[in-house]
Parts: sequence; structure tokens; C-alpha cells
Amino acid sequence: MAMQTHAGDPGAFRDFDLNRVPSPCFVVDEARLEQNLRVLADIQDRSGATVLCALKAFSMWDLAPLVSRYLSGVCASGLWEARLGREHYGGIVETFSAGYKADEMADIIALSDHIVFNTPAAKDRFLPMIRESGRAVHIGLRFNPGLPMGEDAKYDPAAPGSRLGTPLDQIDADALKGVDGLHMHTLCEQDLEPLLAIWDHIAPRIKELAPHLKWINFGGGHHITRTDYDREGLIAFLIRVRAETGLHCYLEPGEAVALDAGILVGEVLDVVENDGPNAILDISATCHMPDVIEAPYRPALMGEAGDIKLRLGGPSCLAGDVIGRYAFEQTPEIGARVAFLDQAHYSMVKTTTFNGVRLPALAVWNSTTDALRILREFDYQDFKGRLS
Ligand SMILES: Cc1ncc(COP(=O)(O)O)c(C=O)c1O
Repeated sequence: MAMQTHAGDPGAFRDFDLNRVPSPCFVVDEARLEQNLRVLADIQDRSGATVLCALKAFSMWDLAPLVSRYLSGVCASGLWEARLGREHYGGIVETFSAGYKADEMADIIALSDHIVFNTPAAKDRFLPMIRESGRAVHIGLRFNPGLPMGEDAKYDPAAPGSRLGTPLDQIDADALKGVDGLHMHTLCEQDLEPLLAIWDHIAPRIKELAPHLKWINFGGGHHITRTDYDREGLIAFLIRVRAETGLHCYLEPGEAVALDAGILVGEVLDVVENDGPNAILDISATCHMPDVIEAPYRPALMGEAGDIKLRLGGPSCLAGDVIGRYAFEQTPEIGARVAFLDQAHYSMVKTTTFNGVRLPALAVWNSTTDALRILREFDYQDFKGRLS
């Protein structure tokens, strides 16, 4: 069954003329992004916690100065995101990878303020190198709270048998040698309650370990910028954890940074009748919105209304390159523009050029000033450059 997306508010995009950009194109509203960042900065200010932006979800580095004005840094998934974080963003660079390559570690140490390891063994392997570097890097260890809270094991690092994080009951004094903080990440698009439930589950053990530690990082997956998220409850929780354990709290949301801040604009290339109309778009689920197939989920279409149902799909050879079935007032003309909502996070960072399908251009719009900047258009060289 397809997951239902929680987001889908067109916001100011309702008034955006889709013909102002090339097609296909990701358009990010920097005013909406700033609104999200203000919410996250407020959590940070009033709770005393530190909030980092997860680059894996949103790394449109043209907007790094804006992100850095509100958040305290970034979390990176490995060497290249750490480098992007150091080159373009201000503040802390925290790196976590489930597996580090030895030949990348010197660069990761040079770029990172926090390095989080998935196992005590990996930490022990690289600790001497970190010490020798002379850099005051915080060492973190990812633990697995072992309490699945997600709807789908694929998106739940606490699911049975998970490779992500060392089970909390394996973390003893030896495992914590040289460790400054503990890290967990098991949520996905969740409200506050699952975080509170996990805390109730882990608090007794964390309180025993806390005297040996400086901080705890609660990862991402907190849907903080969704209007119905219990932000006051989160602030109270973070203050309570600090009071009960003495640990400084970190959060590293990704999706919440860019929630509802961007659309993916495309156009209709053709219509095929087969048990109802199929519109072929220049947007491909597999190339441009792979989570539509992977999750799977049905992205919201801007302005969807009417009695005519059309299947929308991509130009690729994949039979399953179908975005979903959508309602229209009338069958769209060839060249008509469409836009999928809430595409700024994850879609943009996951694109591929399978079938040589063109990558969407990247644009920044400001819904307050109406200024539009086309940052980048991709061409044949971008496709060819990934192959040889
Ligand atoms: C370690 C870690 N931190 C942060 C995030 C960001 O999560 P989200 O975008 O759901 O907030 C993820 C997402 O997979 C993650 O794996």
C-alpha cells in the first residue's frame, strides 16, 4: 500500500506561474524555507539544544548561507557531504556513516567536528588516527534503541536485525572508551509521541551512562515544521533530558528543514489511451522522484481537481515509472505544465540519469519578492560525465 504523504500544502506556489521555469525543474521557495528555519531556530533557542541540517535530505548549497543563518551546522553521511558542509555551510560538521573507508578517514577527520561511529570496533579502529591528528573532534557512538516505531521496516532503523546502530544493551564501559556522546536515529516523518516513547524505553540506561558522556543526538525524522507538530512538547522534552542527564541535546532534521518548500515542475509530452488515459510527462518517477516507487508514496499534484482521471508517468522504459492517478478538469494539452508538491527534500538529492533522461533544472524563487533565479540547467555532458 502506498504511504500517504503528510505534506502537500501548495502555500505560495499556488500563485507561481509554472511557465517561468524550464521543464523539468525543481523550484524552491526561499521564503518558505526561511519560515521552516525560523521554527527550528526557535526550538534551538528555547530548548538549549543544537539543531543541525541533514544534508542527505536537503543540500541545495546555493541556500547554505540562509540555512547557516538559523541552524548550528550540518550532519553529513560521509566524506563528500562533510566536504560540502565545510565548504559552504557555517558551524558544526557532524559526520556519521555506517561504514568508513580507511583511505577517506584522514579527510573526514580534517573536515568534521563530530565523527559518529556505528560500532565500538570502528571507533577503536580510527580513534588513534583521530588523536594523532591533533584535532579536537567529538567522538560519537550510534546506538540502536531497539524499539521500532515506524509503519515500515524499510524506514525504521530500529527494526529487528537492523545494521544501523549498536544495540543499547551492548554498550558498556569499554564501548564508551573515548566516546563523548551517543547518537540515535530511528524516526521518519514522526510526531513527538514516538520520540517520547523511545525515551521512556531508553532513559534508565542512558541515565546510567550519562556521567561518562557530554551529549546525546536524537537524529532526524522529527516532523517539527509540520503545523500540527507538538513543538512546545519537544522543547519541554529537550529541557527535561538536559535536566535529568546533564547531556547537551542535538537534533539533525532533514525533511523538516525543507518541508513544503519546493515543487517539481514538468510538462505533458503525450497521452496514451489504454484502459483510460496515461499522460507521459518529462518527469520520471524512477529518475526524479525515486521515493514514489521505493517508499512507495503518491506525491500531491498542485491544484488537483476535476472528474477526469489520468495516470501520470515518466518517459523512461520502466513499466513501473508511474507517478500515480490524478484528477483533472479536462485532459491536459501537450505542453501543459504540472507540478508535484513537497519535492525539495530527498527528491532533488536522489535523481539519476537512467535512460539518459534529463535532470531537472534547479531554481530558487522568493515568494515574498517574486524574484526567480535559475541556478542550473543540466545537459548531455552531465549524463556523459557519470559514465566512461
Ligand atoms: C543519521 C540520520 N540523521 C538524520 C536524518 C534525517 O532524517 P529526516 O530527513 O527524516 O529528518 C537521517 C535520515 O535518514 C539519518 O539517517
